[in-house]
Amino acid sequence: MPFSNLKPKVKTILSNENEPTAQRLKEVCELLQSSVGYYDWVGFYFANEAEKTLHLKAFAGEPTDHTVIPFGKGICGQVAVSNQNFVVPDVKAQDNYIACSITVKSEIVIPLFKDGKNIGQIDIDSHVEDPFSAEDERFLEWVNEEVAKILAP
Ligand code: SME
Repeated sequence: MPFSNLKPKVKTILSNENEPTAQRLKEVCELLQSSVGYYDWVGFYFANEAEKTLHLKAFAGEPTDHTVIPFGKGICGQVAVSNQNFVVPDVKAQDNYIACSITVKSEIVIPLFKDGKNIGQIDIDSHVEDPFSAEDERFLEWVNEEVAKILAP
């Protein structure tokens, strides 16, 4: 499904005030994972600034052992400190990488900003090599902006 068709669906899920935030985030993960062929695992991590750790809040795909990730560790931990998108076409080429499954070939992590502060991220694993383009980056930045709007300041 093209990203333009997914946007209204994401908005509908996030605007459902009858559901807790974590449930809405889970539904966004499920939507993206089931709609984009090369999105095999989709999750949101949020930062605990005091502990300098990332915590998995919602996901779709296989359960992962990596529900808590220290800042600086793996692709996710690096994005927690760099504030930059991180697109990994081939995970085998990365030294600082936390493997979740041997089937994962590539990954994209986009930081999530609330009031200009990097408070978390969306993380996507793919079983396809080098599938992510600038279009994915723009779409996932947009998803994170929409998510930021429903989070408490
Ligand atoms: N591969 C990630 C760890 C999280 S899993 O992909 C769910 C990383 O290197 O940070």
